[in-house]
Amino acid sequence: MLITNIGELTTNVGPSTGSGTQTHEDGTLHDAAVLIEDGLISWVGPSASSGAQGGSGAQSTPAADEIVDAGGRAVIPGFVDSHSHIVFGGDRAAEFEARMAGQKYAAGGIRSTVAATRRASDGELRARVRGFLDEMLAQGTTTVEIKSGYGLDVETEQRLVRLAAEVTDEVTYLGAHVVPAEYANRSDAYVDLVIGEMLDACALHAKWIDVFCETGAFSVAQSRRVLQAGIGRGLKPRVHASQLGPGEGVQLAIELGAASVDHGTYLTDDDVAALAASDTVLTLLPGVEFSTRQPYPDARRLIDAGVTVAIACDTNPGSSFTSSMPFCIALAVRDMGMTPGEAIWAATAGGAAALQRSDIGVIAPGARADLVLLDAPTRVHLAYRPGVPLVQRVWKDGASVWRKG
Ligand code: NIG
Ligand code: FE
Repeated sequence: MLITNIGELTTNVGPSTGSGTQTHEDGTLHDAAVLIEDGLISWVGPSASSGAQGGSGAQSTPAADEIVDAGGRAVIPGFVDSHSHIVFGGDRAAEFEARMAGQKYAAGGIRSTVAATRRASDGELRARVRGFLDEMLAQGTTTVEIKSGYGLDVETEQRLVRLAAEVTDEVTYLGAHVVPAEYANRSDAYVDLVIGEMLDACALHAKWIDVFCETGAFSVAQSRRVLQAGIGRGLKPRVHASQLGPGEGVQLAIELGAASVDHGTYLTDDDVAALAASDTVLTLLPGVEFSTRQPYPDARRLIDAGVTVAIACDTNPGSSFTSSMPFCIALAVRDMGMTPGEAIWAATAGGAAALQRSDIGVIAPGARADLVLLDAPTRVHLAYRPGVPLVQRVWKDGASVWRKG
């Protein structure tokens, strides 16, 4: 299949033509075409009016069985949403409403979702996950990471990683999300469970290990135990840190070689310098600041310091119940100081970096054919027209999986 007549193609490979001080390559091509074969991108080059017949010369558009005319619109890589918690029961609309009337967000709210999740059947949870994935696809997300963390007992945590593994390769075991009520004042005993019997039950279904390193959740010492136990079982670390206040979670993540440290709402100068000198991605979650009325972290400061920044939705019933990467991009541009080009890089190639994947987040020969056709002439419209459904068509592994109208 050939997608031709692409007005603006963001490949994330090659020199940047973006605005601002973007440090990453976005490899923008104009009047471009993309050839897809067997679920992979096989060729990227200039569009030619000759289409299926091909043209002459080395640069000419190759022939294809099927031609899709993009009509001069923009095409970007599918969004890589590297942080979600979409396996849960119930919701917390009342908590959100109370927060918008002045109440503060606290980690303890997680426990009410634990009760609803434990009560839900596999069938109910599975239907819920499918619903969120459909929402995400319609908004251009072609890869999603999914965490456990609303079970917090051996049986339910295993159910959650198993259900997540049915729909994604990027499964994260987050038994250390918060200390459940039955372990109140016995948090070390709960950590023993998380790194013992619960890890045994979950490790097979997961690729990643995560911990909420924060006041009200787990201390640095406890977080270190959790991450090291996971690493010992072949899981790769990622960390929730500095969401509610400054702490040592970012430094711990870097020390243990985490792929990503997520939130980073309250970063110190030392955190920023250490991130810049490391391979750890800082994943910003603008939906959280939006939904908890917390201050937005300064992405400009991070990017200018040389930190690799990703953006994810953090879809969850407590701190961020959006599944929209375009909405998060608009927030990151408006309130975190990113240029549209930087935010779109962070939501595609940045998410891929946060998952240590080189086969997604780019439009280049050999990469998976995960692409989004926007109903807009440029990607800038994603931030310029917030809240407007601009995703026209989505391909995943070369298959057309969603189209508008
Ligand atoms: O990423 N920070 C911890 N976990 C989630 C929030 C979970 C909840 O409030 O239910 C987050 O924001
Ligand atoms: Fe989270």
